[in-house]
Amino acid sequence: MRETSVASLDTKKIRADFPILSTEMNGKPLVFLDSGASSQKPNQVLKAMDDYYQTTHSNVHRGVYKLSQDATDLFEASRRTMQRFINAKHDHEVIFTRGTTEGINLVSNCFGRKFLKEGDEVLISAMEHHSNIVPWQMACEASGAILKVVPLNDLGELDFDAFDTLITEKTKIISIMHVSNSLGTINPIKEITRVAQSLNIPVLVDGAQACSHMKIDVQDLDVDFYVSSAHKMYGPTGMGFLYGKEEWLNKLPPYHGGGEMIETCSFEKTTYNVLPFKFEAGTPDIAGAIGMAAAADYILELGHERIARHEHELLEYATEKLSEIEGLKIIGNAKNKASVVSFIIEGTHPYDVGAILDKLGIAVRTGHHCTQPLMELLKLPGTVRASFGVYNTKEDIDVLVTGVKRAARMLT
Ligand code: ALA
Repeated sequence: MRETSVASLDTKKIRADFPILSTEMNGKPLVFLDSGASSQKPNQVLKAMDDYYQTTHSNVHRGVYKLSQDATDLFEASRRTMQRFINAKHDHEVIFTRGTTEGINLVSNCFGRKFLKEGDEVLISAMEHHSNIVPWQMACEASGAILKVVPLNDLGELDFDAFDTLITEKTKIISIMHVSNSLGTINPIKEITRVAQSLNIPVLVDGAQACSHMKIDVQDLDVDFYVSSAHKMYGPTGMGFLYGKEEWLNKLPPYHGGGEMIETCSFEKTTYNVLPFKFEAGTPDIAGAIGMAAAADYILELGHERIARHEHELLEYATEKLSEIEGLKIIGNAKNKASVVSFIIEGTHPYDVGAILDKLGIAVRTGHHCTQPLMELLKLPGTVRASFGVYNTKEDIDVLVTGVKRAARMLT
């Protein structure tokens, strides 16, 4: 018998938590392989949000009445859950946002206004999502700073020699994804922060594709900023978080102006609230925060070790089975990879493959995956991408493989 330190995931039980997984698409049982774009939601998350609206809804931090106090307690308890989820030192280092994109825009905008000037450099990598390119281009345009890009090797990993060369005394911030949504590459964040911290360069990590797959410990990673989205970790859309080290969040100017982010406001002058409220103007997405915390609890209950092992098995199985298909090429072969398999089939367009899979009830993403510059480097119009979550099984992959074979036969 194989020895394992922890039991495997009970996928049958997990699947029962996700009502959508027992529905059909185009008259076929849904095989959902697009968690990289947005994962499905378990009953536990749906119920937490529904319960809140049914029993506790009112505005937070604003009312003296009990209902508002209860809503505030739930909202702030959600912040502490997220603090625990990423092991932040303080709960006020967790800022609620609309998602990864807003988190990066917040940092690039506030950091750019205060710390970037002409000739400074911002370092990103060639595998970045548009959401970790465009906000920095905007900050560079506003400040006269220059965007530098770390290239990749043939496996789709960061080229560390180039990284070392590209970090100079002009580098003011490094912004990098934890896991590539297009290639699955897991970047060695600790190695990056070790170099960056020794040079006093802050590091922002885009954790959109990481949080549902691996334990995130922001103190151990020693990142200055870490952003992610709830909807890719079994939580609601339009919700996410920004972690920032206290000292950095205190140094940055506010992002949005409005209610809640002020300490005092007069027509002449406004002073700003303490963390985290300084960055949370307006009525927040209270139900979203509660749903995100319920999703974090769901993940914590399943356990990161078990999740990682399950998804790694799926990755290996899918890679092996798909590689056997004639003309199929896997794009992204990093040694350290998350549960994402991108591929192309010689002589076919990814959209055509995706359209055939759709008719078979299989949901995958096709196209450039919001990484057009990466696709340009790879000289590809895009890829077909299957991405896995806790609810996926080897049977899902068997259906995918049969579907891809069929698509290859029809299209070549
Ligand atoms: N960034 C998401 C993806 O990779 C939407 O599909």
